[in-house]
Amino acid sequence: MRADDVPVVERLSAEGFHELDVRTYQRDWPEPSLRSPERARAWEARTRHFLDTDPGGCWVAEGDDGIVGFATSVNRELMWILASYAVRPGLQGQGIGLQLLAAALHHGRGCLRGMLAASSDPKAVRRYRLAGFTLHPQMLLWGRVPRAAIPVVEQVRDGSLADVDLMDSIDRQTRGAAHGSDHELLFREFRLLVADRTTGSGYVYVNDAGSPVLLAATNRRTATELAWAALAGSDPDVPVDIGHITAENEWIIDVGIAARMEVHQRGYLALRQMKPPRPYLHHGSFL
Ligand SMILES: CC(C)(COP(=O)(O)OP(=O)(O)OC[C@H]1O[C@@H](n2cnc3c(N)ncnc32)[C@H](O)[C@@H]1OP(=O)(O)O)[C@@H](O)C(=O)NCCC(=O)NCCS
Repeated sequence: MRADDVPVVERLSAEGFHELDVRTYQRDWPEPSLRSPERARAWEARTRHFLDTDPGGCWVAEGDDGIVGFATSVNRELMWILASYAVRPGLQGQGIGLQLLAAALHHGRGCLRGMLAASSDPKAVRRYRLAGFTLHPQMLLWGRVPRAAIPVVEQVRDGSLADVDLMDSIDRQTRGAAHGSDHELLFREFRLLVADRTTGSGYVYVNDAGSPVLLAATNRRTATELAWAALAGSDPDVPVDIGHITAENEWIIDVGIAARMEVHQRGYLALRQMKPPRPYLHHGSFL
């Protein structure tokens, strides 16, 4: 992949995931929509960052009419991460994805561990299992959060890039590898909250809807409080979606139950040579 491929790759991924969403979405939920221009810009910035740090992990497949698929992967310390991966709808199931994944996996050949957030596409799931990944089903929480359900949380503050060393150290304890320079991107895209106390530390990136999109902590109590601090920023009239929950992270299910949110299932956390991190909520691309 080259930097000038990024806009084409972005549209391909938007269309690929939209087609997947239309194929698999829950009927009583709002109909899936194509990625908005604002989210497309964030997606492109993220992909350029991955291309900067890991040019050898980012690949496109080309046919006679241009790009037909891509895979973006990065190495963080001794962890290989698949950030994004799609083949143009209509051309899937013909072996293009196999070649893209092989190229991306080759980039991670020096890594002990591997991690990726798998969609529910049976083709993707098949590819990951055949590549040796263990599939951990994920739950998700969905619903409006009533103000009255939110407890008072103390000693949680807004974070900054001065907290990167603390966050890297928490990530090494929970997922076995730091995010390093990814924090610059995450910090630009999301609100950061940090807890740093003698009884435990942790951090959470929160999206505009008040949903925790990446959370790590040294214990469940701190993780729970950070999740509540994130949800306190949600709009009581707008549903929040908290995805990527493995069975090992029941503490967030308990937060959702207390917030009267619905529990559903979606996708898998696919791992190699490691157990599901906890207490931890992984991001879909930065993991
Ligand atoms: C996942 C994806 C990138 C794989 O690319 P692809 O070109 O379709 O992959 P391949 O053709 O190499 O492999 C698909 C495998 O699933 C099989 N397959 C095809 N249709 C299938 C179906 N409906 N159900 C289950 N398996 C199916 C294929 O036979 C092949 O297996 P095989 O190599 O053992 O024969 C692509 O399907 C895609 O973009 N899906 C939508 C977006 C997505 O889910 N991305 C992954 C995000 S984690």
